[in-house]
Amino acid sequence: MKKSSLLLFCLFLISGLVYGQQNDHIFPATDAAKKYIDYDAQGFIINGKKTFLVSAGVEYGRIPRQLWRDRLLRLKRAGFNCIEMYTFWNYHEPHEGQFDFTGDHDLNAFLKLIKQLGMYAIVRVGPYYCAEWDFGGYPIWLHFKENMVVRQPNAEFEKYVDRFFDKLIPIVSNNQINHGGSVVLVQLENEHSAGWGTVTPNDYFAHLQKKAVSLGLQVPYFFSGLHHGNDPAGNGTRAFDNPTRPNPWFTTEFWTVWYNYYNSTQKDADEFGRRTWKIIEHGGGGYNYYMAHGGTNFGYTNNDEMAASYDYGAPVGQTGDLRPIYYQFKANALFARSFESVLSNATDATSNYKSMISDTGVHVYARHSENGDIAFLDNPNKKEATVKVNINDQQMPVTLAAGEIMPVIRNFKLSPQVTVNYSVTRVLGLGKQGNTHTMVIYGQSGSNADIEFSAANTVRLISGKQAFTVSGKTVNLKLIFDEKAPAVYSFKSGTLLIRVIALNPTLANRTWFPEVNGKSYIITGPEYLGNIAVKNNQLQLTAEHYWEQKQITPVWVFNESSVKTVNLKPKPAKHTEELTLGKWQTKDTIAAAAATINFDDSKWLKSTTALQMGADNDLSCYAWYRTPITVKSAGDYILKIRNGGDRASVFVDGHHITTDKVPGDIIVAQLTAGKHILAVFTAHSGRNKLYDYYGSVQYKDAKGLCGEILLQKNKSPVLTDWKMMDAADREAAKSGPPAFTNAVNYKIGDDAFDKKRGYKWLQAMITAQNGNAPKSVYIKGLPAGSVVFVNGKSFEKPEDGAPGFYIPLNTVTLPATLTVFVENTRAGRKGGLNIAPEVVYEHPDDITLNNWRMKGGPGDDKSLTGWSALPADIIYNMPEFYRNNFNVPSVTSNTHAMWRVAFEGLGHGSIWVNGHNLGRYPEKVPVNSLYIPECWLVKGANSLVIYDEDGNRPDKVKIVAERAASRDVTVIKLKL
Ligand code: GAL
Repeated sequence: MKKSSLLLFCLFLISGLVYGQQNDHIFPATDAAKKYIDYDAQGFIINGKKTFLVSAGVEYGRIPRQLWRDRLLRLKRAGFNCIEMYTFWNYHEPHEGQFDFTGDHDLNAFLKLIKQLGMYAIVRVGPYYCAEWDFGGYPIWLHFKENMVVRQPNAEFEKYVDRFFDKLIPIVSNNQINHGGSVVLVQLENEHSAGWGTVTPNDYFAHLQKKAVSLGLQVPYFFSGLHHGNDPAGNGTRAFDNPTRPNPWFTTEFWTVWYNYYNSTQKDADEFGRRTWKIIEHGGGGYNYYMAHGGTNFGYTNNDEMAASYDYGAPVGQTGDLRPIYYQFKANALFARSFESVLSNATDATSNYKSMISDTGVHVYARHSENGDIAFLDNPNKKEATVKVNINDQQMPVTLAAGEIMPVIRNFKLSPQVTVNYSVTRVLGLGKQGNTHTMVIYGQSGSNADIEFSAANTVRLISGKQAFTVSGKTVNLKLIFDEKAPAVYSFKSGTLLIRVIALNPTLANRTWFPEVNGKSYIITGPEYLGNIAVKNNQLQLTAEHYWEQKQITPVWVFNESSVKTVNLKPKPAKHTEELTLGKWQTKDTIAAAAATINFDDSKWLKSTTALQMGADNDLSCYAWYRTPITVKSAGDYILKIRNGGDRASVFVDGHHITTDKVPGDIIVAQLTAGKHILAVFTAHSGRNKLYDYYGSVQYKDAKGLCGEILLQKNKSPVLTDWKMMDAADREAAKSGPPAFTNAVNYKIGDDAFDKKRGYKWLQAMITAQNGNAPKSVYIKGLPAGSVVFVNGKSFEKPEDGAPGFYIPLNTVTLPATLTVFVENTRAGRKGGLNIAPEVVYEHPDDITLNNWRMKGGPGDDKSLTGWSALPADIIYNMPEFYRNNFNVPSVTSNTHAMWRVAFEGLGHGSIWVNGHNLGRYPEKVPVNSLYIPECWLVKGANSLVIYDEDGNRPDKVKIVAERAASRDVTVIKLKL
């Protein structure tokens, strides 16, 4: 970091602390937008109605556009009423000044689709995102901007942000709810250490705010996010709704499950279900799950922690499959939305419900509103608990599973004429169809439910009569859950039909509340209910059943007054689980071509020192580098690569020599004397997401080859003889090293501080060696706060992002002293130097490589020419393209196999199906295949292209169905 920016950064950190009263507040909507979106301490108010926000984190950048609707509908069916997203900068401005808001990048279309589905949107506009996305969302071209730091007040960065915002924000603004769109909230920045909520610590924040507002931002917004965590409600017992709060409690990132997962279990469902109930029981105004559907990092969009799959263990899996956590979150969401008139208006009423149960191991937290109360029975313990619920002198037994939170409804107005006095049972959701009010409840077979209603008009029992007791206008329902089919209990009062549908937990999971043409239905039976349409006087329902489901139940369709039962055909006995591949072809050694002596690289980008990937505007994770070399004497050489990443394959005159990690020292063995062409193929696995980073990005996580590279004959010796002396304080560094009179010995790697806080001087001598003068000293792994001196002159670590740096020694007087001032800021921690500095000596055989050509990209994966049969026994050790075809029998049939490319036997690389880049392998999460979105497949022949950087053979590659995610689809048609 340059001195000036360092100073700025320190000031900024200090100001962060001063202003660092981080809050969870929200800037209010403008007057024009307030009618449409507003809030008070208890809840959000959307179009004048108190609304509990159940939001699903989804990135459109991780889903092909053709599947957007499918994924959003799955979430809508689970009761979500909102979608939260990031608008990755490098997804929309991959090349400087060239914006892409079309096709898969069409944010406007995504927001409109959300609106069409009747949901709201929370848009997180950046400019920083994180999200395990390549470079945290920064475009690669930002790497090549000088004098710029990200996320701090500086005109240079703000200039680029503004240009992006000029395109982005109007799309968001036009889709705000007050303009008839879906957007209700906006987040600026993301997890910035200095400003959360409405904290505006510096000019950078003020700038973002001013810019967004000037571009039409009118709905409420905030900085950085609200209450991020995997258990955002925590374990407190206090309600969230302190009446002095300006806005409801909300979390923009409730992490479920985590990015290193593929799939999740019932245990995760129970755990995250409980954490969700805690938000509801303590008075939250809503929550957003990050992620509700993770999706896929197609192409080169992943960061260094991920490869293609961003499954996240989320409710809706990578292929759109539904996990146990989906059904759990559906139960949470349906409840919160069914009772939002209570929850979003309520205050804490815990003290009123103290005597509802006498068991002290189970807590009761309660919410009270004009529309009714909800008391939550909360069993925080690891074992089941049975309690007696006391209401109106009755004692009703309830068994709570370990960790379960069960809401008990009190005095809830189902309609102006009918009140639920109490309901001691698990309520899935409420339905209203014309004059029919339905409560869908569930419980294990053999367990009981107790509900009492009071009606304004005379009561007439309709079904399940034996379970009711009527006394005047008070109706008491006591039922025992039955395992098999939905049981219906109903009565009429005036013109209203009050209906209770009692289900076992499995059927509750499979119960849906869709709407079509303004009519609502309650449908029980299918594992997923997708599209619903009315055509030719028929109700058409698209139902999914998983291949692995053992038993298919009938489908029960409840309309206003009746239920229709449809028996489904048994599921197919067998499914095709693998698609046959043809013969493999290879594309004659592109690698060899770029590595050969006579390859024409004159059109490649020319430079003195090596330029990091992206310098030629290529966005892939591959780049070739070439340079001519003249070797004076034969022998083994070391290619000293100080900066870049992540892997390099070195070729000399077209022959592969070795593949190794960069940065690092790569041994180039047995170089003969004379002229050669050195070619290096580099590949990386994703850039760092730059979490909590506020500096220059110029050389940050550079990929490919970057900076000065030395081809060295003799390995540089390391400095091992060190002496040590105490230093008084940090000020001592300013006056330079003292005379090393009473020094003691120090060994690299030792704790110089004896685990105490303090300051030390460490010193070693540099001398000539075998008559060769030292050229430079290379230092890496210095602890923060260190200062390096050569013969008393100090050197700062240059701001080039490399893990280490060279200090030139050609003009110093020998012997020279290398002194390092080190500090240990924390007691209990070790301190000192862990890596011995290396001295690079002048050597007539060494070559500083300063005549480079580079070109990004793997070559042309789509080209149809140059392919030939892959010889049976050939083994490549260089990047190689392979091609094959596979036949897809049908893409529209009623069985939806979720096809994946299993990459067994391959090394590192990318895979394309019909020209679509599926992302990188190997995966970093527990799955051994890449997902092929069904929308990219065609009936008949499909092409498969693999680029394996290591040249591994594709013989074991297969196209297989992911059994657990594949499903059969039935369209059920019912006469209306
Ligand atoms: C948060 C960040 C998200 C994502 C998440 C982990 O800190 O805001 O963008 O990276 O962590 O998945």
